[in-house]
Amino acid sequence: MPDDRTPDSAPENDKPQLFIKTYGCQMNVYDSDRMSDALAPKGYETAKAPDAADVVILNTCHIRENAAAKVYSELGRLRILKEARLKQGRPLTIGVAGCVAQAEGQEMLDRAPVVDFVVGSQAYHRLPQLVERAKDGERLVETEFPTEDKFEHLPQPSKKVTLGRGPAAFLTVQEGCDKFCTFCVVPYTRGSEVSRPMHQLLDEARGLVDAGVREITLLGQNVNAWHGDGVGDAPSNLGRLLFALAEIDGLERLRYTTSHPRDMHDHLFAAHRDLDKLMPYLHLPVQAGSDKILKAMNRQHTAQDYLQLIDKLRDARPDISLSGDFIVGFPGETDEDFEATMQLVRDVGYAQAYSFKYSQRPGTPAAIQDTQVPEDVKVERLARLQALLNEQSRDFNAASVGKTMSVLLDRVGKRDGQLAGRSPYLQAVHLDAPMHLRGEIVPVVIEAAHANSLSGKLADISATDSLVKGDAA
Ligand code: 5AD
Ligand code: SF4
Repeated sequence: MPDDRTPDSAPENDKPQLFIKTYGCQMNVYDSDRMSDALAPKGYETAKAPDAADVVILNTCHIRENAAAKVYSELGRLRILKEARLKQGRPLTIGVAGCVAQAEGQEMLDRAPVVDFVVGSQAYHRLPQLVERAKDGERLVETEFPTEDKFEHLPQPSKKVTLGRGPAAFLTVQEGCDKFCTFCVVPYTRGSEVSRPMHQLLDEARGLVDAGVREITLLGQNVNAWHGDGVGDAPSNLGRLLFALAEIDGLERLRYTTSHPRDMHDHLFAAHRDLDKLMPYLHLPVQAGSDKILKAMNRQHTAQDYLQLIDKLRDARPDISLSGDFIVGFPGETDEDFEATMQLVRDVGYAQAYSFKYSQRPGTPAAIQDTQVPEDVKVERLARLQALLNEQSRDFNAASVGKTMSVLLDRVGKRDGQLAGRSPYLQAVHLDAPMHLRGEIVPVVIEAAHANSLSGKLADISATDSLVKGDAA
């Protein structure tokens, strides 16, 4: 980790320094930002590395592989730092947050004496008190699901903090999941589905836009199950929320993730059809292509149901492209079942995808099935699936060459004089551009496709008739 301070240096000012290490998904990224926001009123600033921090928080993830082991080994490294710091007279307070914290609770304090506090994902608004008490020498666990709404108690992201994070922001609209897919820990670690109220979300979105944000990605484990107070008779849903957000001036792009096929509803299709601001790109995990496996996973839909949804989406928005999640080697998966997944991938054609070997998560029903698939079979299937998915995403990127795309320039590029950003399809795009364009959405002629990104040049503004900017075709 680059850090220009020496390990034993004091911070340049006397403000307490906070370092959060984030594992896992975008919801954890959002949570980490909100933890910083929660501690900002106490004067906390962001440190670049644990060496420079007074408080280190590990925001953990439990979804796949042995995340708990990774956290314990990171804690081993932090123990050495903590001991060194004690000798220097600048104590270090260490907290563990997120899903591993939620799952381990008190056990974590017992196993790792280096940990001062353990905080579950529903209690981040209590961090200022937790940290103060931990600094006074208490060891604490806060993993209950409290009755109050943490979002009501967390401060709004401050303008300074938000701008520092760039023009694309996350906004968690929903947490938890009631679907109970048989492989997944989320319903246990994040609890049951809770939606944040519409007015709170619109306020937060307006605040983000006032601070310079141009693109908002709505987040939730099951984001399209979001529901809120109705206007008139029907309760509100994610489609209606998107229509309401699209009214905010200055907000140019909307996305949402992650969706469940069962919760795709008519207003969402209408949003894809009618809202230019809603980007033509959807992450819609299917996990597997065999109906037998989908049933054993408790996904509550068939492969055919999924393909029909894709057809409906493409009817609503012909330029939409898709991303998905896949699991290979779920208990009982035969060669034939795996072939059905390969076929579904060929039928859909993905721009992007994430694929994983099935991992036995403690406490989930699939973990105790006696039909576990041998590791070498999982490895071989994953390699075949990833070869196909990589080929599809290479083709997708190659097809972008020659097009003019709208790109939100959200960061400086790797080379001098370069900016980088995202296309409507979340492709990374690099180009030479003046720094004052950072934060802007500009037309870019795509000239080349690389392994994981595109490069291009600023388009002549007068020649942008064929702009791929997320307008419905
Ligand atoms: N094993 C492998 N992959 C998993 N995922 C969730 N749980 C498991 C597991 N036990 C994957 C799913 C999900 C993504 C976030 O992680 O594909 O969509
Ligand atoms: Fe896990 Fe299934 Fe819920 Fe997604 S829908 S969070 S995979 S239980």
